[in-house]
This record gives sequence, structure tokens and C-alpha cells, in this order.
Amino acid sequence: MARNRSQLKPRDAIQRMDPYRPPSSGRGGKMRLDFNENTVGCSPRVLRGLDGIAADSLAVYPEYQEALPRFAAHFGVRPDELTLTNGTDEAIQLVVSTYVNAGDGVIVLRPSYAMYRFYAQLAGARVAEADYPADLRFPAKELLKRITSRTRAIFVANPNNPTGTSASPSQLKALLRAAPRAAVMVDEAYFEFSGRTVLPWIADYPNLFVSRTFSKAYGLAALRLGCLFSRSQNIQAVRKGQSPYSVNSVAVALGLAAIRDTGYVRKYAAEVLRARALLCRELDALGFKYFPSDANFVLVDFGAASGAMRRLLGEHEILVRDRSYELPGCVRITVGTMAQTKKLIGILRRALP
Ligand SMILES: Cc1ncc(COP(=O)(O)O)c(C=O)c1O
Repeated sequence: MARNRSQLKPRDAIQRMDPYRPPSSGRGGKMRLDFNENTVGCSPRVLRGLDGIAADSLAVYPEYQEALPRFAAHFGVRPDELTLTNGTDEAIQLVVSTYVNAGDGVIVLRPSYAMYRFYAQLAGARVAEADYPADLRFPAKELLKRITSRTRAIFVANPNNPTGTSASPSQLKALLRAAPRAAVMVDEAYFEFSGRTVLPWIADYPNLFVSRTFSKAYGLAALRLGCLFSRSQNIQAVRKGQSPYSVNSVAVALGLAAIRDTGYVRKYAAEVLRARALLCRELDALGFKYFPSDANFVLVDFGAASGAMRRLLGEHEILVRDRSYELPGCVRITVGTMAQTKKLIGILRRALP
């Protein structure tokens, strides 16, 4: 039989996209200061929750009816104002797939979390970017200028990754008012460190979506668990386009265990904030430029020494994230415990002549 050599042609949007390749392999056993995760892992109580998972519960498809009110109570919303998601990534995808047609406008900031652009491009949207200025403060005016009658979604990470800087409440209100026909998603992945949230605003702004994740302070990135919040009508629309089983039962069970042990997360976040202050004092003393951060990472501008610094840290099995492709000379360093930060500082000190 003659072989058919014709090729399947991917959609135009896929052909136009560059593959996204996070540098994520061989990280085990090293000091992980490269992904803004919890650097020591989740609460031991959450881990013990694994013992309670019976074979029978793994045999059945996930059920969320009992879990939803508990997550809702934890976040202070009604069960119809949230949907559980497979990480923030699914929350972003849901907002795009619910509100953005091919050819519609989506606005993202630059630099910011890469998956906003990724899902917007995947949907065939026209992506407009608002650039952060050199001081990396939130570019409120730039962003407002990009809004058009075709804008259907706007993504703001607050605080932003990789800059660590935040938008103020008044800047976010101005944005929500200026784009009433667009879904505005405020991604609060680093809320536990910043302490700032706009979640209560979902009652007042019909175009507001807020996302939270268990991947950062909670130390559960492997489970892929997040939450998307908005007013009830919006969540109904979003759920229509969501897989009925996108969040697995183990993630739900351990997520519930995690919200029963909020003390662990509070303690970890408090230690990270102390460690961040220590790291910043030390960077000042060593004369390295950095950008003040509201999150569990600090963007450091090592300038021409950036490559050498990354190599030096690598020799000590410390992973950090190179951001020089978008911010020349910059390296993003996740802040972990005090002990980890002191080790990091010891190595930074050695780098100076
Ligand atoms: C702003 C922001 N949102 C979301 C995420 C990822 O969240 P998740 O693991 O819940 O998909 C990250 C991870 O780096 C992030 O920086």
C-alpha cells in the first residue's frame, strides 16, 4: 500500500507560536531559587493527608461538591464565585477561551508571566503589550493607552513576575473602569507574601477575575491547584468551557488539608519576608542593584557580571533564573528560608574582589 506522505497542518495560531520551554529538569536536590516555589516544601500535615487516600477514592472521577464550599469559606467568597483550576495556567486559559475570539485584542504587560501571552496567542488573539519603564514600576498609563474597543482580556500579575513590583488599588480601579468590555484578570499568585488582594472587589466590578494558586507559598506546585474567582454569572460562563474533571482528587484532598493548616503558610511567608529584607540589605551593602519586591523573589541587576554570578551560584548548586533576555544583566532570585538566604549571601560576598 502506498504511504500517504501528506502532513497534518496545525492551526495558524500554533504555527505562529514559539514553543515554550521552561528550564525545568535536574532540579532535584539543589537549592531551588529559580521558580518562586516554596523552597522547603508543603506542611507535613498536608503530606500526611496522602496516607488517608484510599484505593476506592482513586477509582472514581473527582467530585467537587463538598470541597467547593470549604475552599469558598477559606477565601471568603460564595461557592458560586469560584472555580477550582488546574493551576493558574488553567485559570488563564479559561478566561481566554470564555471571552476571547480569534482576532480579538488581549493586553499583557512586558515583562510578565509568560503564560498570558501563550494562551492569548493559542486562541489566535491579537496581543498588545504595555512595557514596564526602566524603574519597573507598574505602567498604568501605558496600559490604559493600549485599551481599544476590541480588547477582550487584560492580564495583570500583582505583584508582577519577574519585576516584584505591584499596581496600586487606584491604578487597578482605573483599569477596571476603563475596560468594561474586557475580562480583567488580576493574578495574585504571590498574595501570601504581598498581603494585598482585590478579591473583595468581585462584588463591585463585573469584569474582574482574580486568581490564586497553591503552587507558591503552599508548596504544592506539583499538584497543579489554583482558584479562579469572579461574580457568579461569570463563573457560570467559565465553568461551561471547563473540563468537568480538570482538577484531580489528590489535589483537592491535599488542598483542603493545606487550608486547614494556614499557620504553616503564614509562618513560612513571615520567614521569607525577613529573609528578603536581609538579602536586600546585603545587596545594598555589596553594591548590587535590585528592584524592591512585594513577592518571594528579588530581581537583581548584576550588569556585566550576570553570567559570572549565575555560574558561581551554579557551582554551589544554587539555581536562579536568568532574565537577561528581557532585562539585560538581571537575575531573578527566589527568597527561601533564613538559612538558605544566609548561604546565598555567603556566596555573593565571595564574588566580590
Ligand atoms: C504571576 C504568576 N502566576 C502564575 C504562576 C504559576 O502558577 P500555577 O503554578 O498556579 O500555574 C506563576 C509562576 O511562576 C507566576 O509567576
